[in-house]
Amino acid sequence: MDQTSYIEISKSAYNHNIKYLRNTIGSDIRFSSVVKGNAYGHGVDIIVPLAEKAKINHFSVFSASEALDVFNAASPKSDIMIMGYLSDDQLAWAIEKNIEFYIFNVERLQKAIDLAKAIKKPARIHIEVETGFNRTGIEYENMSEVVNLITDNQKHLILEGLCTHYAGAESVTNYYRIINQIKDYRRFYQYLTRHNLKPRFRHTAGSAASLTYPQTIMDMVRIGISQYGFWPTKETYIYQFKRNQAKDSDLKRVITWKTRVMSIKEVDPGEFVGYGSSFMANKTMKVAIIPVGYTNGFSRSLSNMGRVLIRGKRVPVVGTVTMNTMSVNVTDIPNVEIGDEVVLVGKQKRLAISIASFSEMSNQLNYQTLARLPSNIPRHVVY
Ligand SMILES: Cc1ncc(COP(=O)(O)O)c(C=O)c1O
Repeated sequence: MDQTSYIEISKSAYNHNIKYLRNTIGSDIRFSSVVKGNAYGHGVDIIVPLAEKAKINHFSVFSASEALDVFNAASPKSDIMIMGYLSDDQLAWAIEKNIEFYIFNVERLQKAIDLAKAIKKPARIHIEVETGFNRTGIEYENMSEVVNLITDNQKHLILEGLCTHYAGAESVTNYYRIINQIKDYRRFYQYLTRHNLKPRFRHTAGSAASLTYPQTIMDMVRIGISQYGFWPTKETYIYQFKRNQAKDSDLKRVITWKTRVMSIKEVDPGEFVGYGSSFMANKTMKVAIIPVGYTNGFSRSLSNMGRVLIRGKRVPVVGTVTMNTMSVNVTDIPNVEIGDEVVLVGKQKRLAISIASFSEMSNQLNYQTLARLPSNIPRHVVY
């Protein structure tokens, strides 16, 4: 093993979040765990079994390769849904393996029908409709063609769902846009039911919509970021906090990312630390070298900005984050030694580095910071 850092995934925090979300969303609603982007950096092979133990048996991903990762980690009883890209070959594979997938244009629907006929297995489809996100989704004017194709090919299709995605339910700025999307979605649903088609699951909501627009919950929710213990935005948190009268509005961070001090050295006043001249010692300094750089997911934009925890103290990054290392100022930490634990994200003694503060500093979203954590960092479950 040549990895220089490692990730701990807290089972108790994960279970706590699922319990909180189930209580808030409703225990009879189907919970699809969104595990795209390597389970938002947490590791599909770790999160899928944890989710199954928490009685989740539906997983959402973006692509066929992500679906394969879930397929390999999940029990055969779980369902997998691909919300995004599939080539024609992969479409055939998905039908073979009973994997559900989105249909967002008529061509793909026709292709799925042709393949299902050839394979002699029904395609499990979710019709994604365009309600105002303006990404993927079937337009209202194409619905008659969709309805005719489904009606004429009932034997080859299972209409698993009717779905859409909201354009920013995490911010009140988008309130009218979301309300219009909800109305538009209903129009599509009524169109289907008027033509005697009833999807098994109506689903539209991710974390933010589920937590702030209860009417979007319907039959199933697709929950990503909040199961990992992060609020989509501060607004979502405040909404929950107020609604629950400040009780029980806590999600717990599931991930902790750690490494160890690799080397320590003294730097004389007037000397620069690392590449270039971005940091000059103004007195005799003690600097610890940490074996994590931007290739390991620690953004270069945290140069002279980031913080890590050593011996329970918050210490600043000095100089530029390089490909494989960064330097931190440990001048004021007595007895710091090579091999000391360094927390990059998570808690040490009484302090914590959250992904939020980490990402705010590097001006990235939680989502992006997490999804960028390389998949080859070893991950293991802790209680
Ligand atoms: C279509 C779709 N549904 C659900 C989600 C989950 O969203 P969140 O992580 O905010 O819960 C995503 C994430 O981007 C998505 O693209």
